[in-house]
Amino acid sequence: MNFRQLPKKNLLVFGGTAIWGLLLVSCVMVNRTVMAPPNIPGATFVGSKDCAQCHEDVTSGFHDATHARLMTSGTNAKNVGCESCHGPGSVHSKAGGGSDNIVNPARNPETCFQCHTDKRGEFALPHAHPAGKVSCSDCHDPHKGDAIAGGGTRMASASETCLKCHEAQRGPYVFEHEALRENCTTCHNPHGTVNDKMLKSRNQSLCLQCHYQQQTVTGQLMIGGRDHAAFVQRGTCWTAGCHEAVHGSHVNSSLRF
Ligand code: HEC
Ligand code: HEC
Ligand code: HEC
Ligand code: HEC
Ligand code: HEC
Ligand code: HEC
Ligand code: HEC
Repeated sequence: MNFRQLPKKNLLVFGGTAIWGLLLVSCVMVNRTVMAPPNIPGATFVGSKDCAQCHEDVTSGFHDATHARLMTSGTNAKNVGCESCHGPGSVHSKAGGGSDNIVNPARNPETCFQCHTDKRGEFALPHAHPAGKVSCSDCHDPHKGDAIAGGGTRMASASETCLKCHEAQRGPYVFEHEALRENCTTCHNPHGTVNDKMLKSRNQSLCLQCHYQQQTVTGQLMIGGRDHAAFVQRGTCWTAGCHEAVHGSHVNSSLRF
């Protein structure tokens, strides 16, 4: 299964259970930008309080979650909250649990795409995290605190989210690249981009956002005390022979291997 198989004509290939079949049919029929919670045959909304009977561990921390704010507005306020992501819960609740009568977004991002429609597009780009191996909840906590792990003021821990899977980029390096002290998302968009390695830019503009110097001589491109005008025509800044150890180096302070 792959996000890239998701273009409209293939929609019905997605999923496999009756639940998803029905949800997808209704998605195709209605305007896809409509914010509708997932559908589960025969089920109605029971409200988040009902879930608390059995899922205290989840509901007790939910009040400060980014998505808890979704519960507060509208006349049907009790109908959103847990069920905006998990679908109507009456059948699941009456049965005392089960996995085929409730939506689990860890297995399927459709439920997130309904509201975050732009993310469907980003994950369909040529370079994105592979569906099936990486789900939204590997990087986002829907149940407590900031949905962007380490978001806000704790930017260093935002990189922790990435490093738990990408050990190779952790370092420590003899020659650190200070750019990594900020955040991996300075250079990568983890949802997907048109560029190789999910880079935000495919050329030197990625690096020049921090390394641009005021130029004084026409035709020169001074970076760090050297004229790069001829270099940047040969490829990217991280092309072999240049700064290929872009995350940090053990051998060379100019970030070469
Ligand atoms: C923003 C969407 C969203 C909302 C709102 C939400 N959940 Fe979840 N829920 C998820 C995702 C995503 C997972 C998968 C988590 C994972 O992979 O660790 C999940 C998993 C679960 C699970 C499976 C066990 C577990 O923790 O992995 C339970 C139970 C659950 N949610 C209950 C609830 C309850 C109760 C509420 C309301 C208080 C709620 N959820 C609100 C998205 C949501
Ligand atoms: C009467 C108890 C009970 C109630 C009420 C209840 N659940 Fe559950 N739920 C369970 C049990 C038990 C499981 C463990 C999964 C199983 O049965 O195999 C579970 C599992 C889940 C899962 C994980 C399913 C999976 O395996 O992927 C989600 C998500 C979930 N519940 C959400 C909800 C939501 C949302 C509500 C409120 C609308 C709710 N539950 C109400 C008992 C309950
Ligand atoms: C019912 C609509 C709805 C669903 C379903 C939904 N979201 Fe959201 N989400 C929102 C809204 C609205 C906000 C903005 C909340 C705010 O800032 O007050 C938000 C915020 C977020 C943010 C944080 C944005 C920020 O800047 O802090 C992340 C990350 C996120 N959602 C991920 C997810 C994931 C992952 C899922 C599926 C598990 C999901 N959402 C399901 C409506 C939804
Ligand atoms: C590999 C990690 C990763 C995965 C997988 C991931 N995200 Fe994100 N997401 C992030 C990070 C990191 C940010 C913060 C972006 C930034 O700092 O520029 C973010 C930001 C967001 C935001 C708020 C800002 C924005 O770009 O609109 C939303 C909404 C969101 N993600 C939704 C999703 C949904 C929905 C999925 C699953 C389909 C998903 N994300 C999967 C890492 C991830
Ligand atoms: C749950 C594990 C997981 C998390 C968390 C994760 N990734 Fe990944 N990442 C993967 C997998 C799996 C691949 C695909 C690897 C492959 O195809 O060789 C990948 C691929 C990539 C690639 C492209 C590699 C290539 O060779 O094309 C980049 C760049 C990347 N991730 C950056 C990030 C960033 C930045 C974050 C944090 C916002 C992050 N990842 C979080 C698992 C993860
Ligand atoms: C200064 C920009 C920049 C930052 C910050 C950055 N990367 Fe990269 N990353 C790159 C470039 C450029 C490449 C492509 C290297 C290549 O193709 O040789 C890359 C490639 C990758 C790859 C693919 C494997 C590889 O080495 O080619 C992964 C995985 C990756 N980055 C993860 C991360 C993680 C995790 C973080 C945060 C800890 C991070 N990156 C921060 C620029 C950056
Ligand atoms: C977020 C800002 C930022 C970005 C983006 C960035 N860098 Fe850096 N880089 C720094 C800082 C800060 C230093 C350390 C101070 C200095 O030497 O300018 C540094 C140092 C370096 C050095 C070592 C200079 C030396 O000889 O001491 C090289 C080489 C380098 N960066 C290459 C790159 C390349 C290649 C890219 C693009 C893939 C890039 N940088 C993107 C901030 C950034």
